[in-house]
Amino acid sequence: GSTGGTTRRLGPDADGLAEAAGLLRAGRLVAFPTETVYGLGADATDPAAVAALYAAKARPRFNPLIAHLPDLDAARREGAFDAEALRLAEAFWPGPLTLVVPCAAGGRVTDLARAGLPSVALRVPAAPLARDLLMRVGRPVAAPSANRSGRVSPTAAAHVLGDLDGRIAAVLDGGTCPVGVESTIVACLDGAPRLLRPGGVPREAIEALLGRALLALPGGGPAPLSPGLLASHYAPRAGVRLDAGEIRPGEAALLFGPVAPPGLARARAQLNLSPAGDLAEAAANLFAHLRRLDASGAATIAVAPIPRSGLGEAIADRLQRAAAPR
Ligand code: TXA
Ligand code: MG
Repeated sequence: GSTGGTTRRLGPDADGLAEAAGLLRAGRLVAFPTETVYGLGADATDPAAVAALYAAKARPRFNPLIAHLPDLDAARREGAFDAEALRLAEAFWPGPLTLVVPCAAGGRVTDLARAGLPSVALRVPAAPLARDLLMRVGRPVAAPSANRSGRVSPTAAAHVLGDLDGRIAAVLDGGTCPVGVESTIVACLDGAPRLLRPGGVPREAIEALLGRALLALPGGGPAPLSPGLLASHYAPRAGVRLDAGEIRPGEAALLFGPVAPPGLARARAQLNLSPAGDLAEAAANLFAHLRRLDASGAATIAVAPIPRSGLGEAIADRLQRAAAPR
C-alpha cells in the first residue's frame, strides 16, 4: 500500500468494477463492500500483495486472513471439505459464513495469508458487487475488515477512508453493508464443527442444519486455533459499559428497543440500534452507531441490555471485545 497518496473512490458500476479488479490483479489493495462489512482486498496468491495488506492495516502477521471466492467450486480448489463442511457451504453460501478447512493440495492461497497454518479460511460472500468483483479477479482475494487493526469495522465507504485513506489504492463504494457484523466462522478440521466466531449466520441456523451443537474452541481460548480472536478488538476511543440499566451523567447511550433507561435525559448523545427491538436491524446499525457515539466525545458509551439469541450472540461478542481492557 502506498502512503501519502490518495485513495480513489470507485463507483459501483462496470467501470468501477473493472478498475477494482485490475488493481487487485496488479497486486494493489482495494476495499470493497460485502454483505457483512467492507473488506480490504488483496490477491491472496501474491505474497507481496498480502504483505502490503498486513502493513496497511498494521495487522500482526500471526493473524490469518479469510480468502474470498465467487463460488463453491472455486473454494473447493483451495480447501478440503468434509461432509459437514460441504453441507454448510451448500446451505449458507453465498452468505455470511466462513469455513476453516484443511488446505487442498494445489491450493493457491499463499502461506503468509494463512499465517503458516495448514488450514485455510474460505468465504463466498452474497453481496452482488463482491461476487462480480471476485469473478473478474479470478483468484482468491484475501480480505480482512477494512479498518486499522483493533478498530471498529467499517460498514460504509466513508468509514474505510477515515481509517485507510492514502494507505490503499481504492475503495469500491457500494453503499452500506446490510448485515453489519462479520461472518460466522466455523472450523471443520477434526470431524467436530467448532464455532470460532459468532457472526451473520446465527448459531441456531447452523445447529439446526447439522442436527447437533457446535463445539467451542478446544483448550483455554482462541490461540492457536484462531490466533486472530484477540480479546480487545472493535475498540472505539471511548470506554464501553455493558448491560447498563441506567445512564450516568455525560455518558453516550447505545439503546435497544422501546425502553428509555433512567438518566437518559442527561446523556451526552444517544442512538437506538433498533427502536422496535429487531436484532437484524441492530446488527446492521452496530458499528456505525458505535462510531457516531464515539465522535460525541463522551468518555464512556453505556450499552443497554440486548438479547443474546440469534444475531444477538454476534452483537454481544463485538460489544464484549469493544469493552475489553486494552
Ligand atoms: O465478514 C467477514 O468475515 C469479513 C468480510 C470482509 O468478509 N472479514 C473478516 O476478516 O472479518 P477478519 O480478518 O477481520 O477476520 C478473520 C478471522 C480472524 O479472526 C482469523 O484469526 C480467522 O478469521 N482465521 C483466518 N484463517 C484462519 C484459520 N486458518 N484458522 C483459524 N482462524 C482463522
Ligand atoms: Mg476485523
